[in-house]
Amino acid sequence: MQITNLRTNGIKNPLGFQLDRISLSWVTESSEAPSKFQAAAQVEIATDESFSEIIFDSGKREEIDSLAYSPDLLLSPRTRYYWRATVWGDQGDTATSEVSWFETAKMDEGWQGQWITPLLDNETHPLIRRRFHLADEVQSARVYVSGVGLYELEVNGCRVGEEYFTPGFNAYDFWLQYQTYDVTNLLRSGDNAIGIHLGNGMYKGRFGFDGGYHEIYGSKFAVIAEMVVVLRDGSTMVIGTDDNWKCAASPVQFSGIYDGEIFDATKELSGWSTAEFNDHHWTGVAATDLPSETFQARLSLPVLIKEERKPIEVIKTPKGETVLDFGQNMTGWVRFKIQAPKGRKVTLQYGEILQEGCFYRENLRTAKAEYTYISDGDERIVQPHFSFYGFRYVNLIGFADEVKAGDFTGCVIYSDIDETGRIETSNPLVNQLFENAMWGQKGNFLDVPTDCPQRDERMGWTGDAQIFASTAGFNMYSSAFFSKYMHDLREEQRRIGGSVPFIVPSIKPEGENGFVTFNGSAAWGDAATIIPWTLYLHYGDKELLRQQFHTMKDWVDYIKRADDESGAGRLWQVGFHLGDWLALDGDDPSGFMGGTDPYYIASAYYCYSSRLVAKAAAALGDTATAEEYGRLADEIKAAISNEYFTVNGKCAIDTQTALIVALYMDLVPDSYRPRIIEDLRKRLARDEMHIKTGFVGTPYFCHALSDNGASEDAYTLLLNDDYPSWLYAVKLGATTIWERWNSVLPDGEISGTGMNSLNHYAYGSIVEWMYRHMCGINPAEDGAGYKRIHFAPKPDARLKYAKASLYSASGYIESSWKWKADGSLSFTFTVPFNTTAEVTLPDGNLQDVTVNGEKLSDCGMAAEQAGTNTKCELSPGTYLFEYMPARSYFKKIAGSSTVREILSNNQARAMFKQLLPEVDGNSMLLNRVMNLKVEELPSDRLAANFVSPEKIDQLLEKLMQ
Ligand code: BGC
Repeated sequence: MQITNLRTNGIKNPLGFQLDRISLSWVTESSEAPSKFQAAAQVEIATDESFSEIIFDSGKREEIDSLAYSPDLLLSPRTRYYWRATVWGDQGDTATSEVSWFETAKMDEGWQGQWITPLLDNETHPLIRRRFHLADEVQSARVYVSGVGLYELEVNGCRVGEEYFTPGFNAYDFWLQYQTYDVTNLLRSGDNAIGIHLGNGMYKGRFGFDGGYHEIYGSKFAVIAEMVVVLRDGSTMVIGTDDNWKCAASPVQFSGIYDGEIFDATKELSGWSTAEFNDHHWTGVAATDLPSETFQARLSLPVLIKEERKPIEVIKTPKGETVLDFGQNMTGWVRFKIQAPKGRKVTLQYGEILQEGCFYRENLRTAKAEYTYISDGDERIVQPHFSFYGFRYVNLIGFADEVKAGDFTGCVIYSDIDETGRIETSNPLVNQLFENAMWGQKGNFLDVPTDCPQRDERMGWTGDAQIFASTAGFNMYSSAFFSKYMHDLREEQRRIGGSVPFIVPSIKPEGENGFVTFNGSAAWGDAATIIPWTLYLHYGDKELLRQQFHTMKDWVDYIKRADDESGAGRLWQVGFHLGDWLALDGDDPSGFMGGTDPYYIASAYYCYSSRLVAKAAAALGDTATAEEYGRLADEIKAAISNEYFTVNGKCAIDTQTALIVALYMDLVPDSYRPRIIEDLRKRLARDEMHIKTGFVGTPYFCHALSDNGASEDAYTLLLNDDYPSWLYAVKLGATTIWERWNSVLPDGEISGTGMNSLNHYAYGSIVEWMYRHMCGINPAEDGAGYKRIHFAPKPDARLKYAKASLYSASGYIESSWKWKADGSLSFTFTVPFNTTAEVTLPDGNLQDVTVNGEKLSDCGMAAEQAGTNTKCELSPGTYLFEYMPARSYFKKIAGSSTVREILSNNQARAMFKQLLPEVDGNSMLLNRVMNLKVEELPSDRLAANFVSPEKIDQLLEKLMQ
């Protein structure tokens, strides 16, 4: 046995984080060991690494949960706590983990440092420094520091840490974070210096809608720092910010999140943060007041350069531009080597796509997205300090004619989160789609889950975040990342009576500081319920759920008040809702608003969120609240059925999304389901088997189909490669997910500039379906954190194999399937230590299924025939199941294929559309002929009106080839 992945509050060895609750977790790996389950565990916490000063010992206890163990511990400020876990397996073997730690920040301790502001004008970016003397060698040293807009810390000429964009992005007037750094190795006995460099960020630079606002949170640069040094003799010295610090103008002439940065190296003050530097002529600083009650230790994960990429090509464009192609749409910046004559100005402009072979960035709207460097004549390695870009292409202006690709490095920057999930199939386009969603996450998980990283927006849209949250939970270990976001959300929600802003942190119009605008839209506000529940399912941390429960409940209570006040009778029929944003079935297909009644959608989320509150309350053991919100959900469900459905289950709103949410959100009596799924399949047929949904319908579409026995149609949507579809973008070379189904037209032209990002992860939520349905990995609600797994893969003959792997909170999970040459299926499953799984094998006849080469029915495993499926129970281990499915999945396209089958196949559909344009696009006719065999088409009275028998014959002939 081996114990790995020790985390405190979802973070490995957190230094200086807010620890108002402590949740310790770990993973036990035991593939080779005899034990499969934990018999008992023990957690020990000490104040020294060798555990001679143990301050907490749980003792050997059966009930200790590796997903979340909260020791009863009174923490002291500025203290490192070491902890380890010991696990006893059910076969008597045992293992003790490596030592992990967490270190508190200042907690309630007062600050000796004070906020100071440079005595420079508010536009001038400052360098702030102080020299100090240490009388002895250093035993340990920490800096507690924050600065607004953004700060970078240096000690003795070295940049401290590897983080960017500190102190993090949040609504700074509601709470402001400070960071803690270990600077022990940067100090020495004698003279030392500390320096802080400040930039604008969203605090005081341009940020927000329609051109944005300036100075949203404040107009002055300010910084606070406190260095606590313990010397070898045991004495402690504190160096805090005060009016003895000095400042001067930095070489950064301008910085902004949207517009980039200008760095004038001729103004560089070399060695400015060293003790030797002469700061005689520097200006002073003044004490300033920033609210202290909202000042807190960090929750934001570090934002790091997580990957580096070299350009794949240096392009000379038809306009004569020199453009680097990094081959991947990404977020971060380019680091480059330059040696240019003194005073030479070079600029890097960032864009996502070329147009007619030339550099282009009009879809970034007003964001200038550039970096300008003025050379001092020396050779240097250069990178920005206070801005980032969403880009694939970089236009080089002012560089030498022949640039060397090797001088440029694309730095990929995002929050420090581990990748956990992977999907691979036999279809390279589907694999690329998976990569695109993963890159969407990398590009938009920069402290806040943003809509996009490139244009003048880059904001934490709550709708986008909730849509993608579950995919994110599979792809990466996202609990701490989203916990910080939920903290942001809560801070705003508290001020607006339980409602939730469209954007968190929300952007306040000038003059309305402290007031959160734009709030209360269904699907966006439901981030309040969906994200906590999603985190619970993926990570199983009940204390986290308890902490976030108020957010969930307050949101539903807010809606309920709106319902009560409007007298809607358990519907949500008031307010502004963004609806099925960007769906293709609205009055104006190129507009923003989809065709599904926004109040139906609002009522649907009202029901769904009430149900999630009930589930969360039940998970927390609060039965009364669970019943109350369960009843509320039932009442809403009844009201929705009355208002929007006939007694036979026909929906009054004839859109894909209306039917999808009815199924997915359980809005109607079970007896309506067959009718609704049938109507959804008909609707899909009328839409030529193509998706038309926006932000509401898209994430649930394939789930609704697969949950209701129509996985074949879900695969059709996945595998469609013409517009509108996921693979349409992939075929056009997308390396991230686009904002719109047609962000780029088939000829490569961008479809518009108003709202058209090429790195918008919302539609990447199809990846959740790939994990859950294609590969069949599901965390069970009654065993959150993958303590219990439901494997229910749903193979399709259009793929040869599919495989998902997941380093889950409970350990390594794998699920894969493949077709064998004889048409039989084989599945493999890996179930981690101390978990159990239920497997549903589709179309498996219990008598025919083998497991690890033995007959399942004879091998003593709990198994049963459940309708057309075989079900069985798995304990930890790896299993191979094989059987011939009881129905044939393989359908050869032929004359006997139905129109539906033809339209579900990319090649056959192309022929069909070409030869029968009369049918193509004729939604009424399509609906009528959908289930007819192609060879029957001419005999159909209706079809015959439109389609000549000769054309059908031609089609048949082509299909036979
Ligand atoms: C954003 C979205 C967001 C939407 C809602 C857009 O500008 O980019 O992704 O959810 O607005 O209005």
